[in-house]
Amino acid sequence: MKIGIDQLHVYTPSLYLDLKDLAKARQVDPDKYTIGIGQDRMGINPITQDTVSMAANAAFPLINARNASEIDMIILATESGTDYSKSGATYLHDLLAIQPFARAIEVKQACYSGTAGIMMAYDYVSNHPDRKVLVVASDIARYGLGTAGEVTQGAGAVAMIISQNPRVLTLNNDSVPYTFHNFDFWRPNYAKNALVDGKYSNQAYIDAFQKTWHEHQRRHHTTLDALAAVCFHLPYSKMGKKALTTILDEESDTTNRLLTRYEKSVQYTRQIGNIYTGSLYLGFASLLDLDESLNAGETIGFFSYGSGSVAEFFTGELVENYRHHLYTSDHEKMLSQRYPLTIEEYETTFLESLPEDGSSVALSHPQDKAVIQLAAMDQHRRIYQIYDKVEQ
Ligand code: HMG
Repeated sequence: MKIGIDQLHVYTPSLYLDLKDLAKARQVDPDKYTIGIGQDRMGINPITQDTVSMAANAAFPLINARNASEIDMIILATESGTDYSKSGATYLHDLLAIQPFARAIEVKQACYSGTAGIMMAYDYVSNHPDRKVLVVASDIARYGLGTAGEVTQGAGAVAMIISQNPRVLTLNNDSVPYTFHNFDFWRPNYAKNALVDGKYSNQAYIDAFQKTWHEHQRRHHTTLDALAAVCFHLPYSKMGKKALTTILDEESDTTNRLLTRYEKSVQYTRQIGNIYTGSLYLGFASLLDLDESLNAGETIGFFSYGSGSVAEFFTGELVENYRHHLYTSDHEKMLSQRYPLTIEEYETTFLESLPEDGSSVALSHPQDKAVIQLAAMDQHRRIYQIYDKVEQ
C-alpha cells in the first residue's frame, strides 16, 4: 500500500522584519545575517495569531466537506502550545469542522514532532487504509530581543494530509530515528523564550545527521546518487548545508545537484525564519514550488531534527503529476503581500502579551488579513474567529 503526503499547505503571518534593519539596530554587519546565517527576513506574529490560529490557517484550504468526514485524527505538532492540558488540536477540530468521531492530540519533541506526527499518521493509515490523518506543525520561534538567536526567530505552520494513494509524496517506510539526551536548546515551563547553547546545537545537529544518514545507508543501502534532493530541518538556511557538505564529495554531478536543489529548498526559510516543527516541511514546500527540474518518481531524502534531541532520516518518492496538487501561487501571494515592520514596531509586537488574569479583551491587528484569527480572550479562554464567514 502506498501512504504519504496527499497535500501540504504553508501559512506564515502577514508581518515580517527585514534582517538588514535588525542588523543595523543591533550594530552587526548585515552580511553576517544574510550570508553567514543565510536569512533575509523573519515572519512575526501579530497578537491575533498564535499556534492554533496559524495551524488552522495552514489547514483551512486543504479541508472540504468530503475529507472532513474522512479524517480520523488531528495531530498538532508544536513546542509553543497555549495550554498544558487542552490540546490545540481540539480547537482545530472545531474550526475545521472535522467529523466528531476523531482523535485530536498535540505532540511535542522540539522541532522533531512534525515528523513524529507524520510517522504516527503513516501507521494509522496502514491499519485504516480508507481513512485520513491531518498533521499540522505550527510554532513561534522566540529567543529574545538582542540575543544571538534573535536572527533565527520566525513564525508559521505547515498542514499536511496523510492518506493512502497520496498525490504528492509516497513515504518509503524506511525511517531511521535517533535519540540523544542533551541540552542544546530547551524551554522550561516558566520561560517565555528558548534557552540555547548555540554553537553546541549546531554540532549536535550535524552529529545526529551523520548518525542517521550512515545508519540509513547501512540498513537500506541508500546512496547519494539515488537521491534527487535532501530536505533538512532548517533553523536557519545555512544549517542544513553545514551538515550536507560533511557527506558530499568535493566535486561531482551528485554534489552539484544536491547543492543546487538545497538552495531551492531554503528559499521560503530565508523569508520566514525558523518555524520549529514545520521547518523541514517548509523546506520541502519550497523545493516543490520552486524547483522545476524535479521529476515524478524521484526520491527525496528528509532529515528531521529536534533539540534535546531526536532526529530521523527517511525518504519518499514524488508521485506522478504531483505539481497539479501544490499550492505554489498561494504561497507566492502570501509571501509577497506581507507588511514590513520597522524595528520599533517589531520590538513592540514582540513584547505584547495576552492577559493572564482572566480579564476579557477583544483582539485585532490592522495588518492581519488571515481567515482565522485569535479574536478575544475571555475568562482565560481563547476565542477564535473565522473571518471569511462574518463581516470583518
Ligand atoms: P552567532 O554566535 O551570533 O554567530 O550565533 P557566529 O559568530 O557563529 O556567526 C554565524 C556565521 O556567520 C559564521 O559562519 C560566521 O563566520 C558568519 P559559519 O562559521 O557558521 O559558517 N559571519 C559572517 N559572514 C559574512 N559576513 C560577516 C560575518 N560575520 C560572521 N560579516 C547561531 C549563530 C546560529 C549559533 C545563533 O543564531 C543561535 O544560537 N541560533 C539558535 C540556535 C540554532 O538555530 N541552532 C541550530 C541547530 S539546533 C536546531 O536546529 C533545533 C532548533 O530548531 C530548535 C528545536 O529543535 O526546537 C533550534
